[in-house]
Amino acid sequence: MTSKIRLGVVGCGDVAFRTYLPALECLAEEAEVVATCDLALPRAEAAAKVCARWSSSEGAYGDYSECLDHAGLEAVVNLTPGPQHATITRAALERDVHVFSEKPIANSVEDADSLMTAAQSRGRLLMCAPATMVTDRFRWLAEVAASNRYGPLTLITGRVTGMGPALWRDYAGNPEVFYGPEVGPLLDQGVYILHGATGLLGPARRIQAMGTIAIPRRSVMTKNIQQHTIEVRTNDHVLLQLEFDAGHVQLLASFATPAGEPPSMEAHFTAASVRLPADHWYEAEGPVDVWALDDEPSSDGWRRQDPPSSGAPVDTLIGMGPAHFVACLQGREEPVLTAAHARHVLEIALGAADAARSGATVELETVF
Ligand SMILES: NC(=O)c1ccc[n+]([C@@H]2O[C@H](COP(=O)([O-])OP(=O)(O)OC[C@H]3O[C@@H](n4cnc5c(N)ncnc54)[C@H](O)[C@@H]3O)[C@@H](O)[C@H]2O)c1
Repeated sequence: MTSKIRLGVVGCGDVAFRTYLPALECLAEEAEVVATCDLALPRAEAAAKVCARWSSSEGAYGDYSECLDHAGLEAVVNLTPGPQHATITRAALERDVHVFSEKPIANSVEDADSLMTAAQSRGRLLMCAPATMVTDRFRWLAEVAASNRYGPLTLITGRVTGMGPALWRDYAGNPEVFYGPEVGPLLDQGVYILHGATGLLGPARRIQAMGTIAIPRRSVMTKNIQQHTIEVRTNDHVLLQLEFDAGHVQLLASFATPAGEPPSMEAHFTAASVRLPADHWYEAEGPVDVWALDDEPSSDGWRRQDPPSSGAPVDTLIGMGPAHFVACLQGREEPVLTAAHARHVLEIALGAADAARSGATVELETVF
């Protein structure tokens, strides 16, 4: 039997407690959390306590360098805020530790390149969220596209709206970073759709975009922080269009719409449209709606169906990331959530900001 992967969790904030630690508990047969780390040591200690239910939880650290020295540490899950990702990931790779990073992979394409080089030269695995392409719905959609069952995939439309974490009452972290240039609605939320769309259509060739700061100041209304105002320093409405070798994508991502919805997407083939409904977006498994031209017509045209189940070990889309990472480290799966794919999605998001600023069409260079 393969031995358990010895994991560290760095960044013990909202998403760690909300999603990753429960997901890692579901993977207890395959992996254990031996080290936790947060600049705020009590959070690392609290995470270690949670993990002690299924792991040896050997150490909690306030200093990341000490955490990386933890005996036998094989891999880290990087759950620090977006602007920290590249630094945290690089330090791990330089100590020969594999990395699964939350999105974005880095803050610039150059930084993503150098992380990929570091991973390759050290023979380490570097993977990045979001885990969209390893959910059952997207694995099924990729198979439908490859089989040509409904003809070519010609258009993907997507949208994700809301006010962002400043108005997410249950949010336990600091929302300010999400309204800065390193994150914004496209890299925080639109990225789920961008990753899925490029996963299905391949690398995009060029991008047009518009954007604005629609609501420049936000009152934070989370349960921990109130009566604090933050400045919005990145476009909070982003509208973009992408051109591929074959196919197009249109996407709206906003942190400035009071009526919010999770990501939703429609994939249009020549003989059918497939809808991924917003209310199931964050599930590892979940239904799709199909409108096929040769189907028996239903009252509204759509037919709900469940794609074949792969027996996902966790129930959330986000949790599928570490599940896939551990499976790849153990040789049970081939990497789908590659660093090269994450770098391409990052280039699109940065290109959207450039295109919105200049009004020009931006050519994309990276591939995966
Ligand atoms: N919260 C969610 O539901 C959610 C969902 C999907 C993805 N994410 C992503 O997960 C990441 C973390 O988000 P969050 O909401 O948990 O943020 P958070 O602010 O709640 O947590 C981040 C934690 O990282 C710690 N940290 C910062 N710099 C560090 C360093 N150098 N070394 C060690 N610890 C450090 C902070 O002290 C904090 O506890 C972000 O990239 C975010 O986009 C979050």
